[in-house]
Amino acid sequence: MLASGTGTILAALLSAGVPVAVVLVDRRCPAEEVAARAGVEVAVVERREFGPRFDRQGYTDEVVRALEPFEPALVAMAGFGTVLAPSFFSAFPDRVLNTHPSLLPAFTGWHAVQAALDAGVEVTGCTVHLATAEVDEGPILAQEEVAVRPGDSVESLHERIKSVERRIYPETVLRVLAEATAVGAATGRRERG
Ligand code: GRF
Repeated sequence: MLASGTGTILAALLSAGVPVAVVLVDRRCPAEEVAARAGVEVAVVERREFGPRFDRQGYTDEVVRALEPFEPALVAMAGFGTVLAPSFFSAFPDRVLNTHPSLLPAFTGWHAVQAALDAGVEVTGCTVHLATAEVDEGPILAQEEVAVRPGDSVESLHERIKSVERRIYPETVLRVLAEATAVGAATGRRERG
């Protein structure tokens, strides 16, 4: 799992029984404590630059090096605040999942909830998708609508969206893991002749 924030999505994955080998964070954040309390290893690959001097490729290489020893079947991003270089997605091909607080392709980017409020839409939601080198793109695996209520703030709306993410992300991760295992088993059978 990759996280940068409060770790409530991570907590939901853990409660749903998703086997998490390591939680990698790009900054000190509450997600670390969520992982530690569950006895999950934490890898801190701290991002020190946020401006134009940020070495995205160098940082991405560090993240790949930190994850590779775990040989992850899947990499699940949940509120990870750094856009990684394309080489990340070649290191874990078709194995990176993301959850995003909008109905993609609408409202990509870090401020998706604010953007939905600014646009005055009546319905937004969340999307679980296969992550690719293009931010917030990639095949959609699950999506659910959330109604915007009159008087909603970014916080109130985001919290309602996250309550849905905390349900559909674990379900989707478990489904994709089960499919990956089934494919592995089928391939194994073929290889054994
Ligand atoms: C989620 O809404 C996720 O879609 C977004 O960041 C939020 C993470 O929430 N990218 P939390 O830090 O796990 O509570």
